[in-house]
Amino acid sequence: MTTKKIYILGIESSCDDTSASVICDGIVLSNIIANQEIHAKYGGVVPELASRAHQQHIVPVVHQAIKQAGITKEDLHAISFTKGPGLMGSLLVGTSFAKSLALGLDIPLIDVNHMQAHILAHFIEEKDTDFPPFPFVCLTISGGHTQIVKVSDHFTFEVLGETIDDAVGEAFDKSAKILGLPYPGGPLVDKYAQQGDPKKFSFTKPKVGDLDFSFSGLKTGILYFIQKKLKENPAFIEENLFDICASIQHTIVEILMEKLKNTVTQTGIKHIAIAGGVSANSEIRKRLQLAQKHWGWTTYIPKFEYTTDNAAMIAITGYLKYKVEKYADISVKAVARLKVSE
Ligand code: KG4
Ligand code: ZN
Repeated sequence: MTTKKIYILGIESSCDDTSASVICDGIVLSNIIANQEIHAKYGGVVPELASRAHQQHIVPVVHQAIKQAGITKEDLHAISFTKGPGLMGSLLVGTSFAKSLALGLDIPLIDVNHMQAHILAHFIEEKDTDFPPFPFVCLTISGGHTQIVKVSDHFTFEVLGETIDDAVGEAFDKSAKILGLPYPGGPLVDKYAQQGDPKKFSFTKPKVGDLDFSFSGLKTGILYFIQKKLKENPAFIEENLFDICASIQHTIVEILMEKLKNTVTQTGIKHIAIAGGVSANSEIRKRLQLAQKHWGWTTYIPKFEYTTDNAAMIAITGYLKYKVEKYADISVKAVARLKVSE
């Protein structure tokens, strides 16, 4: 007897990427992402422009995802979509589109918490990858979040620590802006850091309790440091760009690793995952691999394409919820502020 294949469509529109993905029994068949270049010129995401671009992209992106999966929309078993957190105008586009499609096809609608989805991307089926065993700890690092989350099962999340001000992605992006780099600066800092000396400049690390984080003081420290150096030498940034980027990145990654070490000591959990846009960073990925080798942790590092915002993570969460019939009512609403545990 052959069991029926389950096809789930995922739709992501929480910030500035419009994405759609089809997953079949946990395996990604397509993961289409339309980026919005328009924001680079403004140095950050402009909500009104993001919402408008989602409206332009959503039909072709969904169409392409279904086509690339080699199915038709009638083959789908459920539609999952990002309910929040995110920009309201952006979320509304995905939410209303998902609702209409589910209604039209008369199939279940599944609401997905974007932050849970970043974590649950670890359950996408890939050759040669193991799923993290429960309970595990996930360091969720993105443009809007920095959290240490204890994951007890697919649907139980507990925040053990979080940032009291800026997110780590903001620390990267704001530092990059100080250096005159375009938005989003995180990937560029990473790229230039690879050619620089991480010990060349040192920045004061924040003192914040226990498992919490703080990045706004670091950003101010970097700003004052650069202003002072520019007064002495107007070409300071140009002449030292690689070393500045390497030193900033090293400081940020040191902070993240210290907090992870504290978490392992406090919880005794040695299964450590990372998730979110900043988990694309090459140094944090390298440091986690070293922790696996030297400290006996088992580390889970997402495939590069599942780090920044994507719909495959929404579709896998939809699939996990579909299997236990956690469906949404058609009256479900987008929620701009949503905790990872909600
Ligand atoms: O998860 P994500 O795509 O969107 C949010 O939900 O926020 O994360 C975007 C963040 C941005 O701040 C971006 O600069 C950062 O992830 N990022 C990186 C790298 N790639 C993306 N930061 C450091 N190194 C990278 N390689
Ligand atoms: Zn995200």
